[in-house]
Amino acid sequence: MKKYVSTLRLGVLASGRGSNFQSIIDAIDGKTLKAEIALLITDNPAALSIGRAEKHGIEYLVLKPNEFGSKDEFYARISGDLKRRGVDLVILAGFMRIIGKPLIDAFRNRIMNIHPALLPAFPGLHSQKQAIEYGVRISGCTVHFVDEGMDTGPIIIQAAVPVYHDDTEEILSERILKFEHNIYPEAIRLFSEGRIVVEGRTVKIKENGPSEQSVVNPRVREFI
Ligand code: GRF
Repeated sequence: MKKYVSTLRLGVLASGRGSNFQSIIDAIDGKTLKAEIALLITDNPAALSIGRAEKHGIEYLVLKPNEFGSKDEFYARISGDLKRRGVDLVILAGFMRIIGKPLIDAFRNRIMNIHPALLPAFPGLHSQKQAIEYGVRISGCTVHFVDEGMDTGPIIIQAAVPVYHDDTEEILSERILKFEHNIYPEAIRLFSEGRIVVEGRTVKIKENGPSEQSVVNPRVREFI
C-alpha cells in the first residue's frame, strides 16, 4: 500500500439510492475531502446512483452477478476493474451484497462500509427496525472495514443517535441517515490523511483530537 497518496482514488459500489455516495461527492466538491471517485460499480441497472455519477461525470459500470459463472468470478471482475483504475479505497454505499473473497483479499483493510446501527448490535438488514423492536434508547451508525463476516470488520467511526418511543422504521432511518452523511466522508478523510491504523480487530486513529472523538455526538462531548 502506498504510504502517502496525494489524491486518494475511490471506487464506490452501490445498489440503490446512493445518498451516501452523494455525501462523498459533496464532501469532495466542498473540499472537505481530498479524494477523487475513479469509478462507480452497481449491480442494479435501475440504481439512482447511476444518475448521480452521470451528473458529476463519474465513470460507472453495471455488473450483474447472474451474468457471471460464480460469486468469485463476479468479485474477481470487480477487483480487476478497480485495480485497473488505480483505486486505493473501496467504498460500499448501500451495496446490498456480502462481499466475495477475491475482492476482500485484493483490498484487505481498504474496503469501507456504512451500517445504520451501532455495531456489533443489529447487523444485517433492517437494523433500524431491529433497534426499535429491541427497545434500545440509542442506536446510530458505524463506518467499518469489511472482512469476510456480515458487518463484523474493524470499527472506524460511530455516531450515536437517539431512538424515540414513537419512532417508525422510516423516521429513525432518516434521523440516522443524516449522521451517516456526516461520518462516512469523515472516515474517508482520516484514511486519506494516513491516520487509520488497524491493529487486529481494532482501529487506532493517529493524532485524534477532541473534535474527532470516535463517538460523534455533540451533546455528549461536553461530558467526556
Ligand atoms: C444506508 O442506510 C446505509 O447505512 C446502508 O444502506 C443504506 C444506503 O442508503 N448500508 P443510500 O443508498 O446511501 O442512500
